[in-house]
Amino acid sequence: MCWIFAYKWDKEASSFLLEWLKNLEYRWYDSAWICEINNSWEFFLEKAVWKVSNLASKVENLWKDLTWFNTWIAHTRWATHGKVTLENTHPHYSKNERFFIVHNWIIENYIELKKELEEKGYTFYGETDTEIVAKLIEELFEIDLETTIKKVFKKVTWAYAMAVIDRENPNNLIWVKIWSPLVLWISENEFFLSSDANALARFVKNYVNLDDWEMVVIKGDNYKIISLDSGLSLEKQSESITYNEDNYSLWDFTHFMEKEIFQVPEIIDNFIKWRIDFESLEIKSNTLEELAAKDFKRIEIIASWTSYNAWMTASYLFEELASIPTTVYVSTEFKYKKKFINPETLYIFISQSGETADSLESLKVVKNKWWFTFWIVNVVGSSIARLSDLWLYTHSWREVWVAATKSFIGQIWVLLIMALYLGNKKDLEYTKYKEIISSMKHLRDDVSMVLLNSNKIEEIAKKYAHYKDLFFLWRNIHYPMAMEWSLKCKEITYNHTEAYSAWELKHWPLSLIEDSFPTILINPEWKLKEKNISTLKEVKARDGKVVWIITKWDENKNLYDDVIEIPQTIEELSIFPVSVALQLFAYYMAKELKREIDKPRNLAKSVTVE
Ligand code: M6R
Repeated sequence: MCWIFAYKWDKEASSFLLEWLKNLEYRWYDSAWICEINNSWEFFLEKAVWKVSNLASKVENLWKDLTWFNTWIAHTRWATHGKVTLENTHPHYSKNERFFIVHNWIIENYIELKKELEEKGYTFYGETDTEIVAKLIEELFEIDLETTIKKVFKKVTWAYAMAVIDRENPNNLIWVKIWSPLVLWISENEFFLSSDANALARFVKNYVNLDDWEMVVIKGDNYKIISLDSGLSLEKQSESITYNEDNYSLWDFTHFMEKEIFQVPEIIDNFIKWRIDFESLEIKSNTLEELAAKDFKRIEIIASWTSYNAWMTASYLFEELASIPTTVYVSTEFKYKKKFINPETLYIFISQSGETADSLESLKVVKNKWWFTFWIVNVVGSSIARLSDLWLYTHSWREVWVAATKSFIGQIWVLLIMALYLGNKKDLEYTKYKEIISSMKHLRDDVSMVLLNSNKIEEIAKKYAHYKDLFFLWRNIHYPMAMEWSLKCKEITYNHTEAYSAWELKHWPLSLIEDSFPTILINPEWKLKEKNISTLKEVKARDGKVVWIITKWDENKNLYDDVIEIPQTIEELSIFPVSVALQLFAYYMAKELKREIDKPRNLAKSVTVE
């Protein structure tokens, strides 16, 4: 699973090239490489493991005299097959060192192909599946790269995007998209290709999105896009992309995660301006009007991790406010489980990136059955966004690094709005509807209060960062929040945390409670307050430490060890200040542990392989 980038131009562009690679690094950061070639067949190749800055320091000096290279392929890797070593770092090349390849995704039949090639005398220097394709190109070579690649793609399964150059024809470049994202930008005699349109946003205004089973062939200054199914050339419309410097700059923050959490009040302002009319108390959305008219009787929701936790939260909202029975699936499981066709069921997909392979694959399965699909995505124009029937964007602006924070807020906002809209069209009491909408006026201030309290949250997080295990025990709509908090802590601190519904405590989690295994418990002023106090007492009776998250100081002062205060809101809106508090808590724990917060080990921003 990697991110690829290719480029053909007649001008000097080495400095841009590193910048583009850095822009792709938020996707993967196990290793990076660059490979360049010029019209005289001269060739330059450099690789480095881990960050793009390691590659930059290697090549910047060498590049001074090499500005005449005009065809580049480059790549950032997230290791699937083989460790993070220079041998496994791309580019992978054929035995005769003529064909060089960048590749994203996994070749599923690589063992079989490797065996075939070994029988023909090929040997392999690394452990990757990509190297097999490079050698296969050499083995199947016939006439030119275009003819050969068509033969190769028939033998290689499953899904991938790749770029290939032929050292003997330096003006030829081939890009193939079988499945994973790939965009193309063309202007006169300049060609750019990237797995991610955002990496180019600063430099280009329009791009062409390649669909599955398409191939771009560049020969000199000419190009064509071919359908691999029909063999025909295609005319494709370009789409526009906007660049906002704010999304790429860290401002005065230490990490992007911190910046993105502190952006939440502004994002909330934006949400409210966009959707809520406080005078008429109406939610403004033609999309929701269209959806409500379809009158679905059930909802099935498919998403992965943080997006899944947003959906778990939403299932409480959909059932409570809109009276629609809702089932949530983690997308990895959904694709392969038996499905029951029901035209009255609405399938909703949610994803920050819109590229998560499991969610995208599940969406394709549902689409293939002609079921109606709805999606909620943050990245405009992403793959999931292109395939669904109806959609809403979360409008949380670009989220740069791995931990999903502000996009989670965007997701729960859209879901709350959906539940309220659909509920209002059905049997939600108008007084309840009105109470929630009117209370949204204070949402920005409530979240800002949590941010103003960040020093206190940091102080407590520093203390708990040094416990290797933590429990999160919350109830009802806050239970999925606990799951999200637990995920965030694990993801960036590498500490062990577990989240359970507090009802579960007596079934078994109690056996783990001891002095060194603290519990984070939430107890706002809502319907389950007394039950939460019982849980607090049960934990304390076993010498467990408790961080008590409350909206109001109470008489249990002597029981808890630390307290985080959040503003009192109505229950349905509490998920916003609670989320921000939990994101800050996880962030400060990781900071105390000196983790590389924006690039947690082994992870990537979006998981584009199954
Ligand atoms: O882009 P998606 O929302 O589809 O991504 C789903 C998960 O990969 C994502 O939530 C991941 O777990 C985040 N790193 C969590 O912070």
